Amino acid sequence: MLIKVLGASAGGGFPQWNCNGPMSASARARKPGFAARTQSSLAVSADGHRWVLLNCSPDLREQIAHNPELWPDAKGPLRNSPIKAVIVTNADVDHIIGLINLREGTPFTIYGSERVLATINANSVFNVCNPAIVPRLELPLDRAVAIEDHGETLGLTIEAFAVPGKIALFLEDSSDRKSFGSRDGDTIGLKVTETATGRFFYYVPGCAEVDVPLADRIKGAPLIFFDGTLYTDDEMIRQGLLNKTGARMGHISISGSNGSMAAFKDLDVKRKIYVHINNSNPVLDDNSPERKVAEKAGWEVGYDGMEIRI
Ligand code: MLT
Ligand code: MN
Repeated sequence: MLIKVLGASAGGGFPQWNCNGPMSASARARKPGFAARTQSSLAVSADGHRWVLLNCSPDLREQIAHNPELWPDAKGPLRNSPIKAVIVTNADVDHIIGLINLREGTPFTIYGSERVLATINANSVFNVCNPAIVPRLELPLDRAVAIEDHGETLGLTIEAFAVPGKIALFLEDSSDRKSFGSRDGDTIGLKVTETATGRFFYYVPGCAEVDVPLADRIKGAPLIFFDGTLYTDDEMIRQGLLNKTGARMGHISISGSNGSMAAFKDLDVKRKIYVHINNSNPVLDDNSPERKVAEKAGWEVGYDGMEIRI
């Protein structure tokens, strides 16, 4: 199974278009150690030919340009694509808007939880991916599903599970559900298994808390891509960027006694990679003290183009 990080940053990307904070400014100036990153998405393939996108970011067009695996087969028909399915883990802008790039009449299949598909179904702009040729299939929670596209299995089995999270930012005002850190299927994690070999990894790009059910699930796993949005809960407030904590955004922080470094300390996960990293997060600076602390705790910081074969 081949995994490619298409985009390792969170919503807004790195640098963010309107941000003149120290991190984005350094990336924009191409200072050494501040590699730019596009928004949150992975691509995974069992056979190296047919690909499944895990989230579909507004930067997908650029991500396809940088990853020849995702180009049409030059010897194939006039219109073709190796992208056969897209799995979305929540309805946030950084995870669903890339679907708009996949219009133009090529069939593929969209998978999401019932709650996330309801958001996509409620926005008619997504009908540019015509449901007649781009079916939307519900991923049940806590049950492994063989991922397929128009009846053809793709060699991957995916189990979705609810993690503590929240509804998408743009739905907050219209919802009467104010519970942050809820486990209702607004935010899911994925266990992705190569059907033929049983090799697997976890993908949890958004998560408010590593609670006991999540810790029990991922204990001893060979590999996880995990929510690395913020280093400290109040870093966006302290940098003067936005008056919001990570907790308010439904994202666990990396540091602190409730953070992901502490939560994973005794979980014996063999390889741990942060993704969905916000442009305020000092781990994006290769030479920062925070980066060294994360690496010392056994974490890698994801980057665009990172490739893993398991
Ligand atoms: C998030 O991860 O909290 C969202 O992507 C934020 C956003 O939509 O800008
Ligand atoms: Mn996001």
